Amino acid sequence: MNYASEDLKHEHDGILFGLKILDAMVALLRQGKHINKDDYKEIVEFLRLFADKCHHGKEEGLYFPALERGGIPKENGPIGQMLIEHEEGRKYIQEMVAALAGKDIDAKAFTAAAENYASLLRSHINKENTVLFPMGDKAISSAEHQHLLEQFEAFEHNVMGPGIHDKLHGMLDTFEEKYLKNV
Ligand SMILES: [Fe+2]
Ligand SMILES: [Fe+2]
Repeated sequence: MNYASEDLKHEHDGILFGLKILDAMVALLRQGKHINKDDYKEIVEFLRLFADKCHHGKEEGLYFPALERGGIPKENGPIGQMLIEHEEGRKYIQEMVAALAGKDIDAKAFTAAAENYASLLRSHINKENTVLFPMGDKAISSAEHQHLLEQFEAFEHNVMGPGIHDKLHGMLDTFEEKYLKNV
């Protein structure tokens, strides 16, 4: 059987890969190297669209409500904690956007926000993969998992729009060459 969490875990891998690129960009900034501000804007846009709008959107709008129906508590439970962390992540994304808004990057503010974001998301993803998803795999029926996977696909199409995923993956490939291989 296919679990709804499999799609979400696959997206976690994409987010973690984006964070590796963000780390490399932060390291360049720390070294005071000449950097291309547009690339920094693009990686933040990837996090805003792929990690938050698409991935957290699926979790909040579809997956978590299904877990609640399956008996996993929201308030004072794992779902409530995950929601708090999504909000915290949005705050750091806003801080990164603000640090890029001027003529020059505000390196100190960007570095702090990016490091906070990366550490929050890594721990968040680890909690979902190892605690919440195994609970969710058991809490809902196989028909519900199937239904969720169909809803995820429709969500991607309607909320993200056709072709956006491919465009974002293309950007990650370009940045992998530029920031992870040729440094
Ligand atoms: Fe999450
Ligand atoms: Fe997640």
